[in-house]
Amino acid sequence: MVHPPRFDEKAARRVEAVYTTPDVAGQRALILRALSLRPGERVLDVGAGPGFLAREMAEAVGPTGAVKGVDLSPAMLELARGRLEGLPHASLQEGDALRLPFGEGEFDAAAAIQVYEYVREIGPALAELFRTLRPGGRAAILDTDWGSLVWRAEDGGRARRILEAWDEHLADPRLPRILSSKLRGAGFEILRREAVPILNPEYDPDTYSAGMVSLIVPFVIGRRGVTKEEAKAWAEDLRRLGEKGEYFFSLNRYLFLARKPVIS
Ligand SMILES: C[S@@+](CC[C@H](N)C(=O)[O-])C[C@H]1O[C@@H](n2cnc3c(N)ncnc32)[C@H](O)[C@@H]1O
Repeated sequence: MVHPPRFDEKAARRVEAVYTTPDVAGQRALILRALSLRPGERVLDVGAGPGFLAREMAEAVGPTGAVKGVDLSPAMLELARGRLEGLPHASLQEGDALRLPFGEGEFDAAAAIQVYEYVREIGPALAELFRTLRPGGRAAILDTDWGSLVWRAEDGGRARRILEAWDEHLADPRLPRILSSKLRGAGFEILRREAVPILNPEYDPDTYSAGMVSLIVPFVIGRRGVTKEEAKAWAEDLRRLGEKGEYFFSLNRYLFLARKPVIS
């Protein structure tokens, strides 16, 4: 079973905009360094989203390699297709992390960035990832732990309710804290774990947190009793803190580099 909601066209465009910020571009650079892709490698992108990382991975493996992306959301796939134009060794298809449409051992490497936090059955999803990697194949997995959030607001009670409602956008908003044991349970060796903080000490439209406001506001309206007026007032609260030089946002994501063991 898949956790709702799927990304519709509007949400996909908002995610795409947030992913152009230096905060998220810097995170992609870190993931690429961790995977250290070589020319000719075959790479899987689980939940490819708007396709920024798929494009960068396709450039890294070059035309002798291959990148295959899957995503549940047709709107996301549409954005990613545009981004992968001119890279015939990169392809996309609609698919579910729980039933990857690929054979056993097909990939040298894989990325699943901000995807498993949306998936209810993390064990079966990791088992699928494991199956599609060759022995020795590596996987970069990154998810947010929303329990690490520090986001200043004048009206703390309202902000708390809004962020509790926002938690509903994920199957597990605190996935990273259990991911080590889940990866081992699926048979992976863990090579590396790293905290990837996003720190926005100023309100700047070209940052992750300012961009996320436009995703959070429409999502929380009608959940946990949050009204449209409250959601808008929260966004305005943040903007005003920014004007006064009193804004503060910090959130941790966690990168796991894992490997399918080589059987000797
Ligand atoms: C926050 S976006 C991240 C996109 C991309 N990995 C990145 O980091 O740029 C999450 C993506 O995961 C996809 N997704 C969620 N659950 C999925 C599932 N069970 N199988 C495949 N894709 C899924 C969503 O459709 C969405 O495109």
